[in-house]
Amino acid sequence: MRWIDGLEAAAGEKLAEPVHRYFRQGSAGGVSAGEAVAAWSSYRFRPRVLTDVSTVDISTSVLGTPVDLPVLVAPTTLQRQADPSGERAMAAGVRDAGSLLAVSSNAGTTFADIGSVGTPWWVQIYVVKNRDITLKMLDAAVAGGARAVVLTADTPVVGRKEDDGPTVWEVIQPGDLLANLDADDYPDEDLAKADDLTPDVIGWLTERTGLPVLVKGVLRGDDAKRCSDAGAAGIIVSNHGGRQLDGAIPTAQALPEVAAALAGTPTELYVDGGIRRGEHILAALALGARAVLLGRPALWALTVAGSAGVTRLLTDLGEELEHAMRLAGTPTLAALTPDLIAR
Ligand SMILES: Cc1cc2nc3c(=O)[nH]c(=O)nc-3n(C[C@H](O)[C@H](O)[C@H](O)COP(=O)(O)O)c2cc1C
Repeated sequence: MRWIDGLEAAAGEKLAEPVHRYFRQGSAGGVSAGEAVAAWSSYRFRPRVLTDVSTVDISTSVLGTPVDLPVLVAPTTLQRQADPSGERAMAAGVRDAGSLLAVSSNAGTTFADIGSVGTPWWVQIYVVKNRDITLKMLDAAVAGGARAVVLTADTPVVGRKEDDGPTVWEVIQPGDLLANLDADDYPDEDLAKADDLTPDVIGWLTERTGLPVLVKGVLRGDDAKRCSDAGAAGIIVSNHGGRQLDGAIPTAQALPEVAAALAGTPTELYVDGGIRRGEHILAALALGARAVLLGRPALWALTVAGSAGVTRLLTDLGEELEHAMRLAGTPTLAALTPDLIAR
C-alpha cells in the first residue's frame, strides 16, 4: 500500500472524531465527495512509445511563480487541529517541496506569520456582505506577501453538512479560525458570505489588491469565459471537494469543457478535487490544467507527519507523475496534450 493511501485512517487515530469527520465529509448526501477520485481513475490513456524519456522535467510556473512540480496545496481551514503550528507547518512543508500554498481566509494564523515562512502563497477569499471586512483581510494578505487572490465563487451560502454526533464547531479552540479578522467587532450579518456577486468583483479585487485574481469553483465553460473576459488571471475548476452543491459534476468531467472555453485566452487553468495519484495528475495536465491542487491529502499528511509529511506527500506525487510521464512517453509537461486521453 502507498504511504498516501494510509493517511486518512492514520489521521483518524490522532484527530478528534468530529474534526476527522469534518475534513472527510461532503455536503448533503455526499454524492460529489464520494465520486471525485473514481472520476479521475476512469480516464484511459493512449501512451506513446519510442520517445526518449531518459530525462523528465515537471517544473513549471504558476502565474509567474516558478514551482518544482505542478502540484499545489488548496486552501483548507482548521489546520491548527491537524498540527499545533497549523498553517505555518503547512507552509514549511510546501516550501520544502518547492510548491505553492493557497491559504484559506478562515486561517488560524495571521497572514504576516504565514508570509514569514518564505513559501510562495496565494490568499483565498470569501467576499462577505460587509466589503470593508474583505478589504481589511486583503490588505493584510498583500502586506504578508500574497502573490494572488483566489476568489471562491461557489459559496453564496455554505453547503449543508449532515452530522451524526457533535459538530466540529463544538470541539475546536477559539484560536483555530479567523486569525485575520476581529470577528467580535462585527455582527453576524456583516460576516455572512456575499450572495450578490457578479463577474465585476474580479476587476474590483484586481484593482484593490494589485494582484492577479483566480476564480475557484468554476465547473462550466461559459462561466470560465465570463470570468476570463472580466479579467481573471486564473480559473480553478473545483466543486469544493464536494462540500457545496451536492451532485455537482466531478471536476475530472468538467475540466475538458472549461479548457475548451479558455483556449486562446491568457487565463491559466487549474483543477482540484479527488486527485490522489500521479496518473490523476497526468490526466488533469493532459486535459489542459497547468497544475493541480490537493485539499484533504494535505490535511491528512499534516496531521500524521507535520510539515515533513506535507513535503513527502507532494514529492511522492511528483515522483509518481514523473513515472507516469515516462510510461506515457511524454518527457515534458508541454507533451501532455488531450490526445493522450482516450475519448
Ligand atoms: C476541511 C476542508 C476545508 C476547506 N476549506 C476551504 C476554504 O476555506 N476555502 C476554500 O475555497 N475551499 C476550502 N475547501 C475546499 C478545498 O480548497 C478544495 O477545493 C478541495 O478540498 C479539493 O478536493 P480534495 O479534498 O478532494 O483534494 C476545504 C476543503 C476541506 C476538505
